[in-house]
Amino acid sequence: MVAGDGIGPEVVKEGLKCLAAAIEGRDIAFDATEFDLGAARWHATGETLTDTDLAAIREHDVILLGAIGDPTVPSGVLERGVLLPLRFALDQYVNLRPSRLYPGEVSPLANPGDIDFVVVREGTEGPYVGNGGALRVGTPHEIATEVSVNTAFGVERVVRYAFDVATKRDRRHVTLVHKHNVLVHAGHLWRRTVEAVAQEFPNVTWDYLHVDAATIKMVTDPASFDVIVTDNLFGDILTDEAAAVSGGIGLAASGNVNPDRTAPSMFEPVHGSAPDIAGQGKADPSATVLSIGMLLDFLGYGDLAAKVEEAVAADAAAKGSAVRSTSEVGDALAARIRG
Ligand code: IPM
Ligand code: MN
Repeated sequence: MVAGDGIGPEVVKEGLKCLAAAIEGRDIAFDATEFDLGAARWHATGETLTDTDLAAIREHDVILLGAIGDPTVPSGVLERGVLLPLRFALDQYVNLRPSRLYPGEVSPLANPGDIDFVVVREGTEGPYVGNGGALRVGTPHEIATEVSVNTAFGVERVVRYAFDVATKRDRRHVTLVHKHNVLVHAGHLWRRTVEAVAQEFPNVTWDYLHVDAATIKMVTDPASFDVIVTDNLFGDILTDEAAAVSGGIGLAASGNVNPDRTAPSMFEPVHGSAPDIAGQGKADPSATVLSIGMLLDFLGYGDLAAKVEEAVAADAAAKGSAVRSTSEVGDALAARIRG
């Protein structure tokens, strides 16, 4: 477990409370190791994720992560030094981000409809790999590049995962989001890959949207999406928008999944460390609790995962407009999970 920065420790505490409630009375051995990663460690030692940390983390089945990032650390140091190395080194190539508008949750949209889709965001490639550089920095002639890396291997495995997810859903529909009219190299690799993989899934339909059009549809007709598959950066942007339309970032859960199980998968709320409200008991732990649900599902405890999600849904329906502290929400969810 990596509690991390800002509100990370607060929401992780509630997540673990709910995990304990979910596995109570079940014959599930549970043991957590706390990894000190993030701003405090960097300030104290200058270290980010070390090889020793990584080796120790690999000994675990799954990782729960709170949030990484702090304004006292230069932008990019912790993201490029902790979070992304975890995703990359542990080959978490599927960044799974479901969006559901639970009854009782308020969408900023007048007519949101019945939102229930999942974004399958690629997690180990794209513009996130750090392939680029800068020349003549600070001069009027500065040149900066961030070259998006898309491999046939990497695209195919995440596309296949998305189609597989679609087979287990009612609508069985995949939407590829990219920008192949401009990003012709990567875009056409994605398009061709989807065309080829779709042949293997005759029961799944698919369509294509340019990312700019997808951002419009996300606010005009989000309920029409079922499974979206897209690259790392488009997926990052689109899932924040998805969270916003489906009840807010306080409810957005995610899994950084290594489907081949060659290394641990990692579950984390989509929100960041929110330093402005850290330490005040104001953060909503629901996204972390939903991430616990995804974690349980990944480990094969589908019944417990369902209980966790039902608890969050029931809480959304019942909570009204009362302001509750982080631990009050955690207590309420744990009580519902216990049933
Ligand atoms: C997310 C975050 C990260 C990302 C940052 C913190 C590196 O925004 O998990 O969506 O861009 O993937
Ligand atoms: Mn993001």
